[in-house]
Amino acid sequence: MRSHYCTDLDAQDIGKSVSLCGWANSYRDHGGVIFIDLRDRSGIIQLVCDPADSKSAHEIASKVRDEYVLRAKGKIRARGEGLVNPKLKTGEIEVIIDELIIENESAPLPFVIGDNSVGEDIRLKYRFLDLRNEDSLSKFQLRSKASIACRNALDRLGFLEVETPMLTRATPEGARDYLVPSRVHPGEFYALPQSPQLFKQLLMCAGFDKYFQIARCFRDEDLRADRQPEFTQIDVEMSFCDQEDVIKVGEEVLKDIFAACGHNIQIPFKRMSYKDAMELYGSDKPDLRFDLAMVDVIDIFAKSNNQIFSTPAQDPKKNRAKAIKVPNGDNIFSKRQMQRFEEFVRKFGAKGLAFIQIKDPKDTAGQDNCVNFDGLSLKGPLVRFFDPSDLKELVSRIDLKIGDVVFFGIGEKKTVLDYMGRFRIFLANELGIIDQKSLEFLWVVDFPMFEQNDDGSYSAMHHPFTMPNNPDEPNLEDITSIAYDVVLNGVELGGGSIRIHKNDIQQKVFKLLKIDENEQREKFGFLLDALSFGAPPHGGFAIGLDRLIMLVTNSSSIRDVIAFPKTQKASCLMTQAPSSVDTHQLRDLGLRLREKEK
Ligand code: AMO
Repeated sequence: MRSHYCTDLDAQDIGKSVSLCGWANSYRDHGGVIFIDLRDRSGIIQLVCDPADSKSAHEIASKVRDEYVLRAKGKIRARGEGLVNPKLKTGEIEVIIDELIIENESAPLPFVIGDNSVGEDIRLKYRFLDLRNEDSLSKFQLRSKASIACRNALDRLGFLEVETPMLTRATPEGARDYLVPSRVHPGEFYALPQSPQLFKQLLMCAGFDKYFQIARCFRDEDLRADRQPEFTQIDVEMSFCDQEDVIKVGEEVLKDIFAACGHNIQIPFKRMSYKDAMELYGSDKPDLRFDLAMVDVIDIFAKSNNQIFSTPAQDPKKNRAKAIKVPNGDNIFSKRQMQRFEEFVRKFGAKGLAFIQIKDPKDTAGQDNCVNFDGLSLKGPLVRFFDPSDLKELVSRIDLKIGDVVFFGIGEKKTVLDYMGRFRIFLANELGIIDQKSLEFLWVVDFPMFEQNDDGSYSAMHHPFTMPNNPDEPNLEDITSIAYDVVLNGVELGGGSIRIHKNDIQQKVFKLLKIDENEQREKFGFLLDALSFGAPPHGGFAIGLDRLIMLVTNSSSIRDVIAFPKTQKASCLMTQAPSSVDTHQLRDLGLRLREKEK
């Protein structure tokens, strides 16, 4: 039907006859001559329907409305002087139409295409219209390039692409499963995979050596801006490897994917232990586009003459005292901003937000709450609770200068690290110091094997198939694992680990997680079997493809880079899924719904 895409054409094609297809992006009638902006996947070109050239084409053009589907034949000519449109790629030319066909009409649109100010609900209901705009399309073009680059990179590195089942058993990645009832086995259910984790390990047991899959995963969890119930992972596994081998593959694949997206990234990436990430940035996915690292001051707070500070500081295993310095912050922040900072940290469990301003002694003469030394004046209600020698230690450790302000968080370790970590990001946004163009990659390594839940029980921090470094350590919290996450600009892009390939260690980990032998056999019997028939050492990783595209296209939501996404409430507004089903379908499945409770 078509000879060219609209934007394949330029001034060099003047005089050529062309056939074009697409949608009427807009139309204008200028004194009898009708101009139509024809849009296809590539962009826009101007069609000119002049009755002097073709009476019939002009007559058809007079019926065209927004989003009508058109087929047009004509000749390329240069636009008249002064009529060049520099905003269009094809702005120097236009097509004189001698044949125009309306392939289909369009009902009036529920919103103007490309107008992102209309509510997301209506755009998601008519997602096929929402996707018609250039901005959306470019994200999917990039996504396609990224997938192809990923496949090519892994193929070059010797990985086999293998598909694993969608209808399977539960795979423990920490979320709830989506269940599918079986008709043939009434009362029994498949689970959709949270990830291909166990299957890729079994492929290593099968001797495939290097596997990958661009895999669809399903997790029934609370949704956020960077989470969807159905998402895609670049899933990789390899045999006879150590952490360094896996990390190297991860970096090479990411380098090629980002190159396909127009970014030349430097490998190897920085590395940081989980412990350092938590202690310095209060997060296992620190954003390294800015500094504002936390400084440990618990030993100094332990010497305070105020018990509110000294009592928690005397237990450095359970508690933390952390400082964040904002260089020149005292000159930047208003009183109101300082109040907002306190309101912010209180939302995350802080009892308050102590701070010290570093001033010029000339400016604080005669003022309360000031301690002066070495040409500095430390101001704030906190200063009177410390010996001058301890304040001096504070100044030298945090490297404080006139104009700086330093904030302190003290209390229970998890709470302090959490709110100070969040506060660090809040401050960076307030200060406008985040370089939106930079891509800061980081491997976080040496994760703990287990984490404690609120009810005191333990879960695997990555998953229970991760190889522990020291499985015989009696204190569960001190068992570390050969696990690693790759972080980009403060977002967890992917994660992986070296896996347990020995039956006895796997059983030991299940036992530590209080999964008894019956449950082990019932849920993971096939894995334990596979581990007992010559499983090779193996490891791998998975990268969230949607998240990656979201970051690289600077999208504010993961929904922008998924063709047909779900809402925050996990429904599809277009197809109205999930939906109720006929009673006979339920009967076939051996299911009956409980009446909705009033
Ligand atoms: P993990 O659970 O860390 O690891 O997932 C890997 C990556 O997948 C992405 N991701 C998500 N993206 C969108 N929506 C979600 N709900 C969602 N959940 C996860 C993230 C995450 O970093 N089997 C292991 C990998 C391995 O050990 O090899 C796994 O799935 O970017």
